[in-house]
Amino acid sequence: RQRGGLERKANQTALELPWCVFVGGTLVLGTILFLVSQGLLSLQAKQEYCLKPECIEAAAAILSKVNLSVDPCDNFFRFACDGWISDNPIPEDMPSYGVYPWLRHNVDLKLKELLEKSISRRRDTEAIQKAKILYSSCMNETDARPLLHILRHSPFRWPVLESNIGPEGVWSERKFSLLQTLATFRGQYSNSVFIRLYVSPDDKSSNEHILKLDQATLSLAVREDYLDNSTEAKSYREALYKFMVDTAVLLGANSSRAEHDMKSVLRLEIKIAEIMIPHENRTSEAMYNKMNISELSAMIPQFDWLGYIKKVIDTRLYPHLKDISPSENVVVRVPQYFKDLFRILGSERKKTIANYLVWRMVYSRIPNLSRRFQYRWLEFSRVIQGTTILLPQWDKCVNFIESALPYVVGKMFVDVHFREDKKEMMEELIEGVRWAFIDMLEKENEWMDAGTKRKAKEKARAVLAKVGYPDFIMNDTHVNEDLKA
Ligand SMILES: *[C@@H]1O[C@H](CO)[C@@H](O)[C@H](O)[C@H]1NC(C)=O
Ligand SMILES: *[C@@H]1O[C@H](CO)[C@@H](O)[C@H](O)[C@H]1NC(C)=O
Ligand SMILES: *[C@@H]1O[C@H](CO)[C@@H](O)[C@H](O)[C@H]1NC(C)=O
Ligand SMILES: *[C@@H]1O[C@H](CO)[C@@H](O)[C@H](O)[C@H]1NC(C)=O
Ligand SMILES: *[C@@H]1O[C@H](CO)[C@@H](O)[C@H](O)[C@H]1NC(C)=O
Ligand SMILES: *[C@@H]1O[C@H](CO)[C@@H](O)[C@H](O)[C@H]1NC(C)=O
Ligand SMILES: *[C@@H]1O[C@H](CO)[C@@H](O)[C@H](O)[C@H]1NC(C)=O
Ligand SMILES: *[C@@H]1O[C@H](CO)[C@@H](O)[C@H](O)[C@H]1NC(C)=O
Repeated sequence: RQRGGLERKANQTALELPWCVFVGGTLVLGTILFLVSQGLLSLQAKQEYCLKPECIEAAAAILSKVNLSVDPCDNFFRFACDGWISDNPIPEDMPSYGVYPWLRHNVDLKLKELLEKSISRRRDTEAIQKAKILYSSCMNETDARPLLHILRHSPFRWPVLESNIGPEGVWSERKFSLLQTLATFRGQYSNSVFIRLYVSPDDKSSNEHILKLDQATLSLAVREDYLDNSTEAKSYREALYKFMVDTAVLLGANSSRAEHDMKSVLRLEIKIAEIMIPHENRTSEAMYNKMNISELSAMIPQFDWLGYIKKVIDTRLYPHLKDISPSENVVVRVPQYFKDLFRILGSERKKTIANYLVWRMVYSRIPNLSRRFQYRWLEFSRVIQGTTILLPQWDKCVNFIESALPYVVGKMFVDVHFREDKKEMMEELIEGVRWAFIDMLEKENEWMDAGTKRKAKEKARAVLAKVGYPDFIMNDTHVNEDLKA
């Protein structure tokens, strides 16, 4: 479910209904399968009730989510979801909510407790000690010092700050390099501005991976936020502008200078929004423009594409990619956008471009700055997403440790909270579903020909069941070594 303020993203909202039905349906199906597999529910007509605590709990969990006063044939969504919706208002700090965020939150609370336990050199493995140290350093607020450090060094000097963070922070037009800034941003911070460069399977030859170039995101969620004249879109732009100005001032900029510079920055971003290829024109045919880098350079000669790609790829990690050459193929998703982009950048002041690029770097790091930045962000976010309170620091830090050290955190959780018998039960259940599917293919399916059936069976057997966790996370040697690598 999403907040009211976001109705404009109709495509997202439209997904909710099937999603809820899917989750509801899956829960019901899952529970039935579970009860059948346990011999607790018999599909024959003879009446037998399971009154074990697990069954009562499972039944209550389902009953609390549905609304039995609604006829499912009349409105299945309300029948399946009314109870859940009324018991689960969207939390103040979230733009949307559902079963998975609920589950996630419960796991996060458990992990918080584990990560906050003091380090025991005797009991904790090396990897667990590292996770606890990382967590406590994440909880230690350092205001904006690490960010200011970055802003004092090329290529991230921010023109709007002038000499206010010290003489080494002064931006110089002569030293500014668009390519260098874009490549460092993408390569070292995984952030894409103007250009999104990534690798994924070739659409027309899925066994091969290929470089792809696409348009990148903007500060606001969608292109229309910059172009529409609705009151809502205008309020988003106004909020963004004020947020940019205030953030620059919090970092040391002179306020009249910040107002002046950020006006140009917003104007540039609007120009970029204008040339972005809208969703409806992004068809798979239109986006598949395979060419080699030398053809791309001939089409858009203002940018050193090969130099950019080479700078982004970390050849220390991938030495075999060192000799990527003009004959390398790339898929250019949006040729017209790139042509327009470099036309706009060519006639734009370098200072505005630099102001914009560094703004995007600063913007991406705001969640990691101290409270005074986050409270300012909250004001912005209240307009844009409707969130009214900040995620607590522990919650952010737990999420950060989870994404940085997934296996270590996984092991910590499994050690304390995971019931091994549940994993076995689920594995058994999945085998049951697999068996039933194949049985159905063999005995009840009349419309598939024999060859297709054979393939379908092969595929059903090849489906990999991932239940609970991979066994290797319980191997301490493996996890310790994995961290060092
Ligand atoms: C269930 O449906 C009835 C009839 O439409 C409605 O009055 C009631 O408020 C619903 N319950 C919940 C929890 O939404
Ligand atoms: C927090 O970080 C500061 C600066 O890095 C450091 O001096 C201090 O010891 C840290 N405090 C704790 C409790 O780790
Ligand atoms: C919004 O207003 C501006 C200026 O009045 C106009 O140029 C632009 O075409 C309008 N945009 C839309 C989407 O109506
Ligand atoms: C900001 O700069 C303007 C002109 O550049 C100057 O008049 C003003 O005093 C400065 N403000 C601050 C707070 O330094
Ligand atoms: C999108 O496609 C339509 C129809 O093909 C075309 O008229 C329009 O110019 C396209 N817009 C852009 C921005 O490419
Ligand atoms: C790039 O592709 C074109 C067209 O296929 C070809 O003529 C050209 O030789 C290729 N360039 C390189 C450097 O491989
Ligand atoms: C900010 O912190 C989050 C976790 O809190 C982390 O995932 C992310 O990488 C950090 N971003 C930057 C730019 O450091
Ligand atoms: C644990 O991992 C280490 C290092 O990867 C490996 O050598 C060892 O065989 C593993 N032990 C078990 C029991 O799988």
